[in-house]
Amino acid sequence: MAAQQRQIVVVDDDKFAQAAAQRLVSRIKSATDRIAVCLTGGSSPEGLYRLLAEEPWRSQVPWDRVHWFMGDDRFVPLADPRSNMGIAQRLFLDRVPAPRSNVHPIPTDTNYPEGAANLYADELKSFYGAEKLDPARPLFDLVLMGLGPDGHVASLYAGQRALEEKERWVVGVGKAGWEPFVPRVTLTFPTLASTREMLFLVDGAGKRDILRRVFAGEDLPGSRVSSNGELVWLLDRAAAPEAVS
Ligand code: 6PG
Repeated sequence: MAAQQRQIVVVDDDKFAQAAAQRLVSRIKSATDRIAVCLTGGSSPEGLYRLLAEEPWRSQVPWDRVHWFMGDDRFVPLADPRSNMGIAQRLFLDRVPAPRSNVHPIPTDTNYPEGAANLYADELKSFYGAEKLDPARPLFDLVLMGLGPDGHVASLYAGQRALEEKERWVVGVGKAGWEPFVPRVTLTFPTLASTREMLFLVDGAGKRDILRRVFAGEDLPGSRVSSNGELVWLLDRAAAPEAVS
């Protein structure tokens, strides 16, 4: 599967969550078998998550066929308000007919982030059915991503070793580079890249400057990230730098 050029899609601020839902549903509809979606944390996907629990979106998702993973999580229990999977569950997964066995949280009830990372790597490998990622057979159908105000993606922060990881699928991050400052567990770049589509969700005027820097090619995690399939940046007008709006 050849990597494609970055596509930038800019929508009106009040259409951002709907545009995200539209893309997610059409990606899901294009798959005929089991579907794997890797969710993202942060505030940008919250509108999308709320919509998925409501019509007309809810009935367009074949819930029994879709598996939900998380690209990174804070090392806190699922019930903690800072848990990315906890937020996704409260906003939509607990409110739709998604089978429990289709929801794959990072196991943050282990002793250390590294232990959780190893367990989650095992879970991803068993779902994928191989120990090595084959570029011709992506792990995910869709990977959702956010962009931090400092240019981080998932829990991959500028200057940290995890950015260079080529072998491991998931790693523990002892020191978060952005709030909340709790340890993290994150999928690595090669794992996130193993997808038919990577969809960035970036909204709000506070992201305009960092987007300009990422699109200018500055060396930031947001510029290093790649997708073996499509790479789509969905922005609202407030976030879009002048050059792309
Ligand atoms: C996390 C995230 C993180 C997030 C960005 C953007 O756990 O914090 O996964 O990478 O996606 O920080 O967050 P916002 O959408 O809140 O700006």
